[in-house]
Amino acid sequence: MSSQFPYTRPRRLRGSESLRSLFQEVEFSLDDLVLPIFVEEEIDDFVPINSMPGVRRIPESRLASEIERYARAGIKSVMTFGVSHHLDDDGSDTWNDNGLVARINRICKEAVPEMIVMSDTCFCEYTAHGHCGVLHDGKVDNDATLVNLGRQAVVAARAGADFIAPSAAMDGQVQAIRAALDGAGFHDTSIMAYSTKFASSLYGPFREAGGSALKGDRKSYQMNPMNRREAVRESLLDEQEGADALMVKPAGAYLDIIRDIREASRLPLAAYQVSGEYAMIKFGAQAGAIDEGRVVRESLGAIKRAGADLIFTYFAMDLALGGI
Ligand code: PBG
Ligand code: ZN
Repeated sequence: MSSQFPYTRPRRLRGSESLRSLFQEVEFSLDDLVLPIFVEEEIDDFVPINSMPGVRRIPESRLASEIERYARAGIKSVMTFGVSHHLDDDGSDTWNDNGLVARINRICKEAVPEMIVMSDTCFCEYTAHGHCGVLHDGKVDNDATLVNLGRQAVVAARAGADFIAPSAAMDGQVQAIRAALDGAGFHDTSIMAYSTKFASSLYGPFREAGGSALKGDRKSYQMNPMNRREAVRESLLDEQEGADALMVKPAGAYLDIIRDIREASRLPLAAYQVSGEYAMIKFGAQAGAIDEGRVVRESLGAIKRAGADLIFTYFAMDLALGGI
């Protein structure tokens, strides 16, 4: 008897590199990744983001050549964020056909037509107060913001964006945007909904990258990180409202939510590895505590294993260039 124990030996399938790769269950590739980019108007030089080593704001004047460089490296898709010099109470620059949202989407599509361009659709980088919508009596007015989201979506679609990606966390935003797009004839413009978006402390470095003026927080519109049932409900609502794809954000600390939504919906599901997740890996590696390339691959692989089809990550270019 003792010679037969243990009966089951999972180690048999781990004995060599060939065995391990033969039996590996999930994988990610460049085809699954979307690179988020920050584009600033009225500047001449790249601006490094101190809290995100390796990430730089791109001057609008250099955007076309950057997009060409990404395409050559094998990047299939970018998510555009504008860094505006034209802030006001409502973020009205976003629904101007010559405003920054329109220009950056147009430049990307004209530079590389096959690049899939997703337009982050929100107001926090265009409002003087830094909130994601219109303020009335110190509160973000949901329904007034919906009207403006529709305007911005149509402007981005007209500029050529393939996807409208509303991140404002307003109730009804997907339906409002779908109606506005269809009303303007943009039936083929898709919606990548930030459908389950938590009020996370992991967005900290993004606020520097995007130059956000926010004082306070977004807890009255983004979700409580402790809520699992509500997380599924939020994504299912966006599905009903007409989203073409769903998203969980952040990713790494929310793998249970990714799995829940994967099982609750048949829509494609994305996950956003956010600025704070990027920063933790970068600074950990810079301190010599972890191996950057291996931790990046492990974290992205785990996000796929949890059930994501695509991943937004600031590491996409590093991976494409083989730098990590
Ligand atoms: C804007 C927006 C944010 C992020 C994406 N879109 C910031 C926020 O909601 O506060 C975060 C991205 C990141 O941290 O990488 N609404
Ligand atoms: Zn916002």
